[in-house]
Amino acid sequence: MDLTAVVTGAAGGIGRSVVTRLRAAGYRVVAVDVAPAVADLAEAGRVVPMTADITAEAAPDDVVGRAAVEFGRLDLLVNNAGRFLRRPILDTTDDDFDALFAVNVRSAFRFARAALPHLVETGGCIVNTASISGLVGVPNQSAYAMTKGAIVQLTRQLAIECAGRGVRVNAVAPGAVDTDFTAEARAADPDPAASLAVTLGNHPIGRMSTPDEVARAIVFLASPESAGITGTILSVDGGYVAR
Ligand SMILES: NC(=O)c1ccc[n+]([C@@H]2O[C@H](COP(=O)([O-])OP(=O)(O)OC[C@H]3O[C@@H](n4cnc5c(N)ncnc54)[C@H](O)[C@@H]3O)[C@@H](O)[C@H]2O)c1
Repeated sequence: MDLTAVVTGAAGGIGRSVVTRLRAAGYRVVAVDVAPAVADLAEAGRVVPMTADITAEAAPDDVVGRAAVEFGRLDLLVNNAGRFLRRPILDTTDDDFDALFAVNVRSAFRFARAALPHLVETGGCIVNTASISGLVGVPNQSAYAMTKGAIVQLTRQLAIECAGRGVRVNAVAPGAVDTDFTAEARAADPDPAASLAVTLGNHPIGRMSTPDEVARAIVFLASPESAGITGTILSVDGGYVAR
């Protein structure tokens, strides 16, 4: 019996690494992303890519239903898709705010709700991708940081709500990770080199984490190695929040 996972944001830097690590751990995966590049992950009988906007009303049921149809079970939901916005509050519009919450928060909530009946059956797990921005204040990220704070609280809340039903719920909180996400934010900065220097200076290990380092933490939180852990926010941040 192979374990089965749904991974959102699977075409991105962290999501791709999560799919790779889950495959190495023997999982079958439904890999979802709005970016058509998710199709690259296809692997017959092992990885089913789905191009879908996770904010669409039908997306959670469609995606979770696909896992049930293709693989007959669901053991893990990785709520990883996310959008970033580095913008001062005075420049953040209502539309910016709503668009971030739709992807980063509302979809995670709706995917968790759709997955839970299956996870109760299998004694499965949810792992959410939060951020250090959900744990401490970071300049010019008010809307984004609020979404990640909501993910932190969704994680704790669901952990308590589901503990009696055998489902564990945890999150990772990455610091800066070397993906398109950070590269695009930096490129939009007036001085990208100075911005990179500030970022590296804020991380005591002196570098960004790799997507694979975040993926390994996610797979750990989904594995029996972490059987006693639920409601935890595991920072993968090179010491950022320890300062
Ligand atoms: N890169 C970082 O420094 C960093 C730090 C902390 C947290 N995170 C979080 O990690 C997660 C993954 O980010 P990443 O670094 O891999 O970035 P990324 O941009 O490489 O990947 C994010 C993926 O989410 C997908 N996505 C966005 N909106 C979607 C939608 N509506 N429907 C379906 N898919 C959608 C994108 O297409 C993209 O492939 C995000 O939740 C992000 O907030 C990233």
